Amino acid sequence: MYRSHNCGELNASHINKEVTLAGWVQKSRDKGFMIWVDLRDRYGITQLIFDEERTSKSIFQNAKTLGREFVIQVKGKVIERSSKNPNLSTGDIEILVSELTILNKAILPPFTIEDDTDGGEELRMKYRYLDIRRNPVKNSLIFRHKVAQAVRNYLSKEGFIEVETPYLIKSTPEGARDFVVPSRMNAGQFYALPQSPQTFKQLLMVGGMDKYFQIVKCFRDEDLRADRQPEFTQIDCEMAFVEQEDILNAFEGLTRHLLKEINGIEIEKFPRMLYDDAMRLYGNDKPDIRFGMKFGELNSVTQHKDFGVFNAAELVVGIAVPGGNNFTRKEIDQLIDWIKRPQVGALGMVYCRYNEDGSFKSSVDKFFDEADLAKWADITGAKPGDLICVLSGETDKVRGQLSSLRMELATRLGLRKPNEFAPLWVIDFPLLEWDEETKRYHAMHHPFTSPKPGQIELLATNPGEVKANAYDLVLNGNEIGGGSIRIHDKKTQSLMFDYLGFTPEEAKAQFGFLMDAFQYGAPPHGGLAFGLDRLVAILAGQEIIRDFIAFPKNNSGRDVMIDAPATIDNKQLEELSLKLHLKQ
Ligand code: AMO
Repeated sequence: MYRSHNCGELNASHINKEVTLAGWVQKSRDKGFMIWVDLRDRYGITQLIFDEERTSKSIFQNAKTLGREFVIQVKGKVIERSSKNPNLSTGDIEILVSELTILNKAILPPFTIEDDTDGGEELRMKYRYLDIRRNPVKNSLIFRHKVAQAVRNYLSKEGFIEVETPYLIKSTPEGARDFVVPSRMNAGQFYALPQSPQTFKQLLMVGGMDKYFQIVKCFRDEDLRADRQPEFTQIDCEMAFVEQEDILNAFEGLTRHLLKEINGIEIEKFPRMLYDDAMRLYGNDKPDIRFGMKFGELNSVTQHKDFGVFNAAELVVGIAVPGGNNFTRKEIDQLIDWIKRPQVGALGMVYCRYNEDGSFKSSVDKFFDEADLAKWADITGAKPGDLICVLSGETDKVRGQLSSLRMELATRLGLRKPNEFAPLWVIDFPLLEWDEETKRYHAMHHPFTSPKPGQIELLATNPGEVKANAYDLVLNGNEIGGGSIRIHDKKTQSLMFDYLGFTPEEAKAQFGFLMDAFQYGAPPHGGLAFGLDRLVAILAGQEIIRDFIAFPKNNSGRDVMIDAPATIDNKQLEELSLKLHLKQ
């Protein structure tokens, strides 16, 4: 038996007990006649004491050789500490060691295994197994486990069945590039790793599974950001015989359960917002509604003056920054520089101070008088003491820019409180979106999403106007889930592929299996997938998902610990017929 207790559980009630502990040496303090060692494992830290008088000579000498991160086993008696540590659950006791076994020595770790480590990001990723010994990373993984467990329990209780679907599949279009895997047995042919189990979960509905879920890895070859990894995990769900309302209720239930179970927060009913309203009021399809600063469209009160910039603009739109009149001129100039960075791309910003005495002072006083500016205040909801920031230009671009500014200001003003939770359903997404690059419409969610009833005819005349039975779940300004009601008949699905520019042959080659299945009695169905990594990070009050993944990739998609991706040798390439392929 390696241990009778763990390093986090002993307290005053165990005094005089003989115990065996095992763990890592966090640190040791050698006072010459007395050595204290902090022994650490997943559960906590227990102080060991080696005492020249009370410990045998050989053990005492051995204790002197212990270095950081040595793995040891000790036997000893629990005794009361003379100087107690109220910050530690084991702070009332220590172990007077009578036997010491060094299970494994350790070389000096490249960074300190402390909550505040001296190791930089890249170094910690290279030695992720050491990073995982640190409380912040360890606790994030434990937190993730708790969330996943609560999800499984809840969905199982609600009658969902977890079914595994294959990883070696054919491409599913979810908007990103596929990772592909060459097939040895089928020379020149490739599997694709699933971007999601979308088609399989639909086939499970045709198969009569009725309520499916899976906590599943998905793979997308796309540019990485703080909330994106090339392999990530979804809580993927699908239900048969449901309408949009049923889906929203089912997964609002799950999210409400998690907020209560994990965060102790009760939220009655999640608000819903039309996609068009989200874009108009927040410039964004995943608005953070923990704070205001809603957009006010100012075209009607800014044009037909002599200010050419506004006159030429498709959209003039502003936000009221609470308390922003306190910003110095320098701070405002810095803000303007911030929005002019290529990442945001605004050409400039007009601003208007709303003074405490009710007067206004704007950067365009030459063109707009107090009465005009009072209208800006009215429309943006500004109050005395606020600052009105106004951008203008092409609608889509300006909305994006003002949305970035809104989020940046909210962060600077401390309005994005990590322990406050504001879930929101964004509904009625457009079915299609125009892609400038290919000059074609693409499915905004995916090509299996059904148009709103009665709107399919619009596809021929006004495709951009067609709304879908598609919805996203947003939490604190992050898209944590998305889904739709699916097409479940062959005719509509073929029509959809046709509108998306697939020839009948291409559609058959790629998705013939699904359309075939629809001919054998496919029930109406729909579903949703949560991004588990994002959900976990946000429930923990954070946004960087890497911190909640045991072995994440860096921003270039590399695992710097195992050094992947890597080249493979010629023999392997040959076996996979890849050499042949490359030469052609
Ligand atoms: P969607 O593409 O919206 O839908 O993905 C669902 C959720 O997965 C998360 N997500 C990601 N998380 C981390 N890294 C990524 N690269 C990444 N990409 C997506 C997001 C997102 O909301 N099959 C559909 C679901 C459905 O229709 O039922 C799908 O995959 O939180």
